[in-house]
Amino acid sequence: MGKAKIIDGKQFAANLRADVAKDVGALKAKHNITPGLAVVLVGEDPASQVYVRSKGKMTVEVGMHSYEHKLPDDTSEADLLALVEKLNNDDTVNGILVQLPLPKHMNSAKVLESINPAKDVDGFHLINVGLLATGGDAMVACTPLGCLMMLKDQLGDLSGKKAVVVGRSNIVGKPMAQLLLRENCTVTIAHSRTVDLAGECKRADILVAAVGQPQMVKGSWIKPGATVIDVGMNRIAAPEKGEGKTRLVGDVDFDEAVEVAGAITPVPGGVGPMTIACLLKNTFTATCRQNGLDEADIS
Ligand code: GUN
Repeated sequence: MGKAKIIDGKQFAANLRADVAKDVGALKAKHNITPGLAVVLVGEDPASQVYVRSKGKMTVEVGMHSYEHKLPDDTSEADLLALVEKLNNDDTVNGILVQLPLPKHMNSAKVLESINPAKDVDGFHLINVGLLATGGDAMVACTPLGCLMMLKDQLGDLSGKKAVVVGRSNIVGKPMAQLLLRENCTVTIAHSRTVDLAGECKRADILVAAVGQPQMVKGSWIKPGATVIDVGMNRIAAPEKGEGKTRLVGDVDFDEAVEVAGAITPVPGGVGPMTIACLLKNTFTATCRQNGLDEADIS
């Protein structure tokens, strides 16, 4: 068995952003509309600050308006809800993203449900979750959407393939399973209580790992030739790089898996870069729908 093809998520995401930039240009030229994305950050979480900065920069790079709202950690839930309401009613704002996690004194579910579903570019609102599950025009969560794009690029038609999703989170596992079902895969959702996890994984033509356990999926769990999508982002100690150093690894043991799989996403540089690119794509989609335009007709 040769080495797996390494799926270059960084390049894929750059291509997707270039496509979105082209579409944004066409939307401006034909309809004089510029999409706007509002990102709300509450508090000082360092990882969230990095994400939000990166989102703002890439939003502007594809030609959209970026509106950043940074609120102090002790903001009341009522004040945050009032801001969301203002953004819901602002016609220059087509997408709204409230960065998670929110401070502990806030009810995240309540805040997410307050976002106008048509502007919910994260796809976290119950209406969008329900539309995805029932085959409607949902806004789809960015990370699973990015995973699906890479799978279709790699495999073409996914119909009839056996897909195993390891992890059942609302943000990745469950929407990923729904998307694969929509593509006519035979879908299994495995999780921490699954009996014989290795055996379940070994049956998969498509294996998506989204559990947050460093290097949990071993090479021996993978069907030869399978396509493996690793959503994990785990920081582990890396004494080989020097004392106190760390490195980022996925949920899949990459060095083992690369010898068995047909194709695999690396960490970093696989799924990660796709998430923001899909957020921009979703913002474009939301803008078209809000203006009664067919996205396919724009460019
Ligand atoms: N925090 C980490 N990832 C995400 C995401 O995709 N959306 C939001 N809103 N917050 C996040």
